Formats: sequence, structure tokens, C-alpha cells
Amino acid sequence: MSKQQNKNTHSLNSNVIFVIGALGGLLFGFDTGIISGASPLIEKALHLTISEISFVTSAVLIGSCVGALTIGGLSDKYGRKLLLFISSILFIIGALMSAFAPNFVVIVIARIILGLAVGSASALTPAYLAELAPKERRGSLETLFQLMITAGILLAYMANIGFLHHNIAGWADWRWMLATAFIPALALFIGSIILPESPRFLIRVGRVEESHKVLTQLRPDYTSEQIEGELRDIQNADSEVHKGGVKELFTIARPALVAAIGIMLFQQLVGINSVIYYLPQVFIEGFHFSASSAIWISVGIGVVNFLSTIVATIIMDKFPRKKLLIWGAFVMGVSLAILSVINYTINIETAATYTIILIAIYIFGFAVSWGPIAWVLIGEIFPLSVRGVGSSFGSAANWLGNFIVTQFFLIILALFHNNVGGPFGIFAIFSFLAIPFVMRFVPETHGKSLEQIQDELLEGSKTKHKDAK
Ligand code: BGC
Repeated sequence: MSKQQNKNTHSLNSNVIFVIGALGGLLFGFDTGIISGASPLIEKALHLTISEISFVTSAVLIGSCVGALTIGGLSDKYGRKLLLFISSILFIIGALMSAFAPNFVVIVIARIILGLAVGSASALTPAYLAELAPKERRGSLETLFQLMITAGILLAYMANIGFLHHNIAGWADWRWMLATAFIPALALFIGSIILPESPRFLIRVGRVEESHKVLTQLRPDYTSEQIEGELRDIQNADSEVHKGGVKELFTIARPALVAAIGIMLFQQLVGINSVIYYLPQVFIEGFHFSASSAIWISVGIGVVNFLSTIVATIIMDKFPRKKLLIWGAFVMGVSLAILSVINYTINIETAATYTIILIAIYIFGFAVSWGPIAWVLIGEIFPLSVRGVGSSFGSAANWLGNFIVTQFFLIILALFHNNVGGPFGIFAIFSFLAIPFVMRFVPETHGKSLEQIQDELLEGSKTKHKDAK
């Protein structure tokens, strides 16, 4: 088929595929973001104690950790598509069950189910998108996942504000907030039926012809020779390491595992979710703002987060990933360090304005670097045979880091007598520590095909092995 013909038949399809493929991100953002506004309402309506409501919040994170860990091995065995379909069903059940929950036990079970779905989507989607994308656009297309996360968070903030105190059709506001997640969940469900299987997974299980068909659909700009070439590269890479499992992950893929876990832990330890989940509390406790102004500040930050991630999709394929990570860590570290000093030196009213500006700069730094790149990297640094299980470990580390920050942030804030300079000073230190980690342990993947990245990793592992002997 000629290039032009190829383009006309398939160009719309390929873009739609990437957007639907990234929908799990929207649910990830929504289901984690919605609780900031819904939790005080649930607490009151279901007569929960403080520890019960905290458990409703963290149940998602526990579920996510378990979901992320279990899904990868299964997706290496049964394919990315089937597992995406299963997680969409979990999203639907979780959304409906939490919206209809009559008591504490049901809402906790619903939130754990949602967590399983979020965790699965967070491990599956980066690998799936990386395997579908052509190398020249892989960074931008994978950044779609993070863009969807930020859109989901923003949608959650808007649902919080939109439904608050509106008991439509006699149904409580918080139930409407939680039910909103049903719509994107349904979209993912339908999407996962029509999405193609990953062409790389198809090669792995010997379905070469189908892989050829999917690649043709995904690469409207490629000539048939280019498609044949890509197919050959994938086949060669697959024959290099055929066996895949946890043992291979800890031996040949160990450098990738160290990089993935480190990047994911740092992505959380720089404190992003103290802002995403707790910003209203920070302004209420720390600066005595009213609840409604505090909520609007968080919407503003949600908008900055989303718009900056659009910038990220534009620049992602233009710069080396490591440079962006180092730059982002520096911007976050400096803005948080200044924020910390200001909150210990000037009066609280003036400090509040500077704090808002510095948090916006910090969010910008995160959104164009660590936000998307952490997820981009776990989709691309593992060899094909262990990509699913590798992404699982990386993603689980992210949820673990998230759990630690979310559980301890308010306690640490109280320890510093509600001065945000305390916890944000700690996050500044983690931002600076992330720089040497990136320089030493993270491989550069920008502009390389997944097969090239795999070759370099295997070369590195072999050399190390020889040196050790
Ligand atoms: C992180 C989430 C965070 C979000 C904020 C993601 O990359 O993994 O924990 O809430 O970015 O935009």
C-alpha cells in the first residue's frame, strides 16, 4: 500500500486509539482527586469517626498497590487489552458501589475495588501506550496518560464544587460526586473492546500477522517497508530474551528496576500529593482561609497542573528525558526552599500570597517533568519479556510513596505547628536528592526505539556481569 493511501484510511483511527488507551489516566486522576471534597460530606452522612474516614481515603491507595503488583505478570501472559477490559469493569463496579454505599463497610470495599482498578490502569497504560507508539512520538503520546490524570483531577475538583450542597433528585451531593466516575469508566469499557492488542505482545505470543495489521493501522505515515522493518526489530528483540518473569526482572533487568522504583518513589517524595489532595486544608489550617476560598485555590492549581501538562506533551519529544527531570527537580527544590524560608521569616498574611505563587511554580516544574516522565519511563525501560511485571513494580512503588506522603503529611504539618514551611522544606530536600539519582541511575531513552533501549540495557547488564567475574 502506498504511503498516501495508508494515511487516508487510518489516520483518525490511530489518534483515537491513543486517547482511548489513555482513558485509564482520567479515572486514576478522578478517583484519587474526588475524595478531597467528598470526604467531609461522607464522614457526616455515614457518621464516621476520624480514623474511619481516613481509611476511606487511603483504601484506594492500598487497593492500587495490590492492583499494580498483580496486573503486570497477568498482562505479560494474557495481553494488555484483556486486562484493560477487566480493569474497566472494576472501575464501573467501584463507581456505582461507592455512589450507592449505605455504610462504612460497603464504601471501604468500593474504594478498594476502585483502587485495584486505578493500580491496574497505572501499570498497564504506560506499557500499552509505549508499545503502540512510534519512537518519534512516543514521549508525547505517553504523556497523554499524565494529561488524562491531570484532567481527571480537575474534573474531580469541578464535580466537588458543582455538586456541593445540591441534593439533585433527593440524592446526596457526595453520591453524585462519586457517581460521576461512572461516565469515563463506561467510556473505557467500550474503548477497551474496540482497542487493538499491543503489536509487541502479539509478536511475543506468535501472532505475527495480527501484529502486522495493528502496526499498519497505527502508523498511517509509514511505508510498507518501514512497517516490515519495525516488525523485524520487534521479532529480533523478542528472540533475545524470551523467558520473562520475576527472576529475569531481578537479574538482567535489574538496572531498569532500580531506575523505575527510584523514579517512582522520588515522584511521590517531592510531595506532589500534599498539594493535590490537601491544598484546601493547608490554606485553612496554615493561613486561616475560609473553606470556599481554599477550594477555589485548589481549582486554580488544578488548572495550572493541566495546562502545564499540555506544555509537556508539546516538548516531550524535543528534549532528553534526563535533562527535563534534572531541570524539574531543580525548579521544585528551589521554589519549595524559598517557600519554606519565607514561611519562617515573614508574617503569615504576606506569606500566603507568595506561597500560592511558589506552589504554582512548583506545580509547573512537576507537570512538565516528573509528572509525565515517571510514567513514560516505566513504560519504556523494561525489556519486552518483563515489561508488564516491571511496570507493575514501578507503579506499586509509586503507590507506596503516595501512601507514605498522604498518611504522614497532616501529622508532619501539625508537628511544625501548622507552618507549611516545615513539610515543604522536607520535600525540597527530596527534590534536590532526586538530581544525583537521575544522573547516576536513569538511562536516557529519548529518540530511541524500545528495541534499542532493550539492547543497551542488556549490553550494560552483560558488561557488569563480566566485570564482576
Ligand atoms: C502522580 C500522581 C499525582 C499527579 C498529579 C501523577 O503523575 O503519579 O500521584 O496526583 O501526577 O498531576
